[in-house]
Amino acid sequence: MDLVVNNAIDYVRSFFEGDFTGHDFSHTMRVFSLATKLAKIENAQLQIVQLAALLHDVDDRKVSPHTTEELINARTFLKSQNLDESVIEHICHIITQVSFKGKDSVTPDTIEGLCVQDADRLDALGAVGIARAFAYGGANHRVMYDPLVPPAVNMSEEEYFQSKSTTLNHFYEKLFLLKDMMNTSTARSIAEEREEYMKGFVERFLFEWEGKF
Ligand code: ADP
Ligand code: NI
Repeated sequence: MDLVVNNAIDYVRSFFEGDFTGHDFSHTMRVFSLATKLAKIENAQLQIVQLAALLHDVDDRKVSPHTTEELINARTFLKSQNLDESVIEHICHIITQVSFKGKDSVTPDTIEGLCVQDADRLDALGAVGIARAFAYGGANHRVMYDPLVPPAVNMSEEEYFQSKSTTLNHFYEKLFLLKDMMNTSTARSIAEEREEYMKGFVERFLFEWEGKF
């Protein structure tokens, strides 16, 4: 494996120690692995995709709000690795485009960015996606469900960020929107299967919530 990629894995392993919000090292490594597979299928530049995947959350607004604007953590790491300035800029450009921001979400403008965004979004779906949503909800003191609080759809970046909605609402506010936002056909077909699994979960959750058996 590329030496810089290896160094980036070591960097994110120590960076995410002690995270309980679902933005942890294992999330980063799943995104890395999915993004690598998509990059090979799409003939994207592997090193760019892998480094952007590994660093995509180190300056995330929820993880490190003071470094988000300038991507200070990602830039500091990349500059220590003797990479070309153009490579660093491409990776940082991808990082600014990846995150879900409600209706303010953007579609990356390079194939490398499209692969990383799809990989990040796929990890919010399926069984792991369900687990991450409840882990995030717990870490952020959200209730699991409240039938009196309806989901808000079509939120702006700011509304999405400020929202104090329930974890079950998050399925309607973000997770069930992701399938149709996938960029590559490979990711879209993985997303279809994962979404179906989650829809079954939500149906069963509400069934039990209402006291049925
Ligand atoms: P991204 O990786 O696109 O930046 P987020 O930071 O929005 O995505 O989300 C990271 C993880 O936290 C995802 O699994 C997501 O479902 C979960 N999450 C984010 N916001 C909420 C929320 N309001 N309630 C429950 N889970 C959430
Ligand atoms: Ni992520």
